[in-house]
Amino acid sequence: MIEFEQVTKRYPGGHEALSEVSLAIAQGELVFLTGHSGAGKSTLLKLVAAIERPTSGHVIVNGQNVSRLKRAAMPYFRRNIGLIFQDHKLLYDRSVFDNVLLPLHIQGLTGQDAAKRARAALDKVGLLGRERARPITLSGGEQQRLCIARAIVSRPALVLADEPTANLDEAYANDIMDMFRAFNQVGVTLVISTHDLDLVRRYGGRALTLDHGRLAA
Ligand SMILES: Nc1ncnc2c1ncn2[C@@H]1O[C@H](COP(=O)(O)OP(=O)(O)OP(=O)(O)O)[C@@H](O)[C@H]1O
Ligand SMILES: [Mg+2]
Repeated sequence: MIEFEQVTKRYPGGHEALSEVSLAIAQGELVFLTGHSGAGKSTLLKLVAAIERPTSGHVIVNGQNVSRLKRAAMPYFRRNIGLIFQDHKLLYDRSVFDNVLLPLHIQGLTGQDAAKRARAALDKVGLLGRERARPITLSGGEQQRLCIARAIVSRPALVLADEPTANLDEAYANDIMDMFRAFNQVGVTLVISTHDLDLVRRYGGRALTLDHGRLAA
């Protein structure tokens, strides 16, 4: 499902965030991405989502070379990917419910079917009681759970989560992880970056470790 061939990413200014990374992630895998701060975890996830492009090498997602994606093809490419990124903005002038409904509307799903799915997603992250609230009135952890609901509501085949449990207390972190595991059990491919090695041990997925932009053996 995901293939990196000798991928190097250099940001403007010359810093090399990833150096000649090669990897393969099969459909249905649960993969943890670990490594020190600045190791390149977020960069790797952004390359998969085509938010960033490689400086050299190839990133192939669902058989598509991400570097060759036309701008017009981007919405369709992203439709199959659930993104949980910390800098992904919520719509603060809309309700919690509308934030989760929006991805479905973009896909053309409306009415009762869409509303039911949005509520189910909010229920999964424990925010059903807050559906009329504005996101700004939620705590940091609650906003993070809202991002998760928004990412999974359209049932993507691939979910990329950048430190999804970083701001959560242990009980909610475990809930979120159990939820991810349940997705994985129905065939969703998951790539989750985390600092929490305990989490990796407990959930027992494959771990990929980055060290200064290089994949450790
Ligand atoms: N947009 C950018 N422009 C320039 N340099 C960047 C940019 N984004 C990241 N970097 C640099 O690339 C390197 C890797 O950053 P990245 O965010 O991928 O690390 P990370 O492993 O996600 O770190 P953290 O655990 O702190 O989130 C860092 O040295 C960072 O400063
Ligand atoms: Mg990061």
